[in-house]
Amino acid sequence: MNATKSIKNDSYTDVMLKRQSVRKFQPDVKIPRDELMELLKEATTSPSACNLQSWHFVVCDDDTGKKKAHSVVMPFNFPQTDTCSAIIFVLGDTQSYLKYRDVWNKMCDEGRITPEKRDEVFQTFLPLYEHGDRDFLVKDSMIDASMVSMQLLLAARAHGYEANPLAGYDAAKIAPTFGLDDKRYVPVMAIAIGKPAETPIQSIRYDVADLTDFA
Ligand SMILES: Cc1cc2nc3c(=O)[nH]c(=O)nc-3n(C[C@H](O)[C@H](O)[C@H](O)COP(=O)(O)O)c2cc1C
Repeated sequence: MNATKSIKNDSYTDVMLKRQSVRKFQPDVKIPRDELMELLKEATTSPSACNLQSWHFVVCDDDTGKKKAHSVVMPFNFPQTDTCSAIIFVLGDTQSYLKYRDVWNKMCDEGRITPEKRDEVFQTFLPLYEHGDRDFLVKDSMIDASMVSMQLLLAARAHGYEANPLAGYDAAKIAPTFGLDDKRYVPVMAIAIGKPAETPIQSIRYDVADLTDFA
C-alpha cells in the first residue's frame, strides 16, 4: 500500500531501532479517528497465517472507552491507560476463516490470482481451519494478532507518536466489557498511543549470540 499522508517518520533506524515503551503521555492530545484508522490500516499490512487476518481491534479514545479500558487493566498500567490519546485492544479472531473466501475471491476478481490458484488455496487451507480444534484456532489467531500488534507499535512511531504494548489486564473481562463474543475473540495485547510526557527507560537486550543456534 502507499504511505499515508500523516506519516512523519520514514526512517527504519528511528522507527524500529529507537522504539522504547512510553508509559506517560500528554493527556490533552487527541488523535483524530481518521488517523487512528490509518494506523490500523497500515498495521494490517502485517503477514498472517494463510492471509486469514485473524485480528480484531477495539479502540478506546474517548471518556467512555477510556473508562472501560481503565476497568480492565491492572493498576500498574493506569498511568499509560489514563494519559494516552488512545488505547487499542488487539484480539485474535478464532473464526476468521468464516469470511476467508471473500479475500481470495476479491483477489481473483481483481486479476491478482487465477481461479485455479484461488481454488487450490481453498482446498489446501480451508479444511485446516474448518476442522481445526480450538487450541489450533486460538494459537493461530494469537500469532496473527501479535504480528499486527508489533506493526501497530511501529506505525505509531512512524506517525510521530509513542506507544506501550501491555498485556497486564484481566483477560476474562475484555470480551464482556467491550460487548464481544468471548468464544470467538481472544485478547492478545493492548497498545497505548500518544505524545510522550516522559523520557522512556532505555531497555537493553540479551546478546543474540547466547540465544542463537545455527543448525
Ligand atoms: C507480551 C507483552 C506484555 C507486556 N505487558 C506490559 C504491561 O502490562 N505493562 C507495561 O508497562 N509494559 C508491558 N510490556 C512492555 C514491556 O515491559 C517492554 O516492551 C519491555 O520492558 C522492553 O522495553 P521497550 O518496549 O522499551 O523496549 C509488555 C510487552 C509485551 C511484549
